[in-house]
Amino acid sequence: MQLLQRCPAPRVSRQAQRGVAARVSSSAPSATSSQHAVPGHPDIKKVLYSEEELKACCSRLGQEIGRDYAGKHLILVGVLKGSYMFCADVARAIHPPPPICELEFLKASSYGVGATETTGTVKIDGGFSMASVTGKHVLLCEDIIDSGLTLTKVTELIRTQGKPTSIKVVTLLDKRERRKVHFDADYVGFNIANEFVVGYGIDYSERFRFLPFIGVPTDEAVARIAAECAAFNASNGEAQAPVKGVH
Ligand code: IMP
Ligand code: MG
Repeated sequence: MQLLQRCPAPRVSRQAQRGVAARVSSSAPSATSSQHAVPGHPDIKKVLYSEEELKACCSRLGQEIGRDYAGKHLILVGVLKGSYMFCADVARAIHPPPPICELEFLKASSYGVGATETTGTVKIDGGFSMASVTGKHVLLCEDIIDSGLTLTKVTELIRTQGKPTSIKVVTLLDKRERRKVHFDADYVGFNIANEFVVGYGIDYSERFRFLPFIGVPTDEAVARIAAECAAFNASNGEAQAPVKGVH
């Protein structure tokens, strides 16, 4: 159970906390940025991408990936934990399916000194074996690219240690304006503005992962969860511990 472990530090930008910005490009009607909760989801102030839009997005990406990997030995590598739902849906949408399509997962842990930023010091774990990708076409499956630091390091480590035949990235969401390093994904679901999002596998301190849509939490929910985490960590004597973020 999550609360038996250290409550992960929330990673929310200041702009996101003020409720700034929204989706950059999408065919869906634009959402409001008021603090009115989504019916049935009092901690969510707006739905950015509905279940239907996510399904259509996976279907489009699956067609593109299927076309590009026709006849190839593909290995889809999901970056835990945030991409697990997206990875499952996009895998099922790859059409036509490549002759061999394997699945692996890895955990990318980043280490930093604050609660809102990654530093670029990244470790790959989660039982991932570099040997599993050697000589194969790797497609990393990510939930969100933000600063770009995590995937820059992960792709570099896999390229040098795993020696795959090729390596590409599919991401559901891309926050291009947040980049600290240049990084382009090969397949992008949606470009979004600088807004903190949750749902469809993506969490805020282990909350909201199971929502079937991508939404934006209310400021009240963000503040309440941050306070809950601070209280939990303080009561366990870990308030001053260095941040270890697992995505
Ligand atoms: P970066 O590109 O190294 O900065 O890290 C990207 C990771 O940060 C993503 O895979 C997520 O785990 C996390 N992240 C970035 N933006 C958000 C967000 O809006 N909600 C939840 N997690 C986020
Ligand atoms: Mg991630």
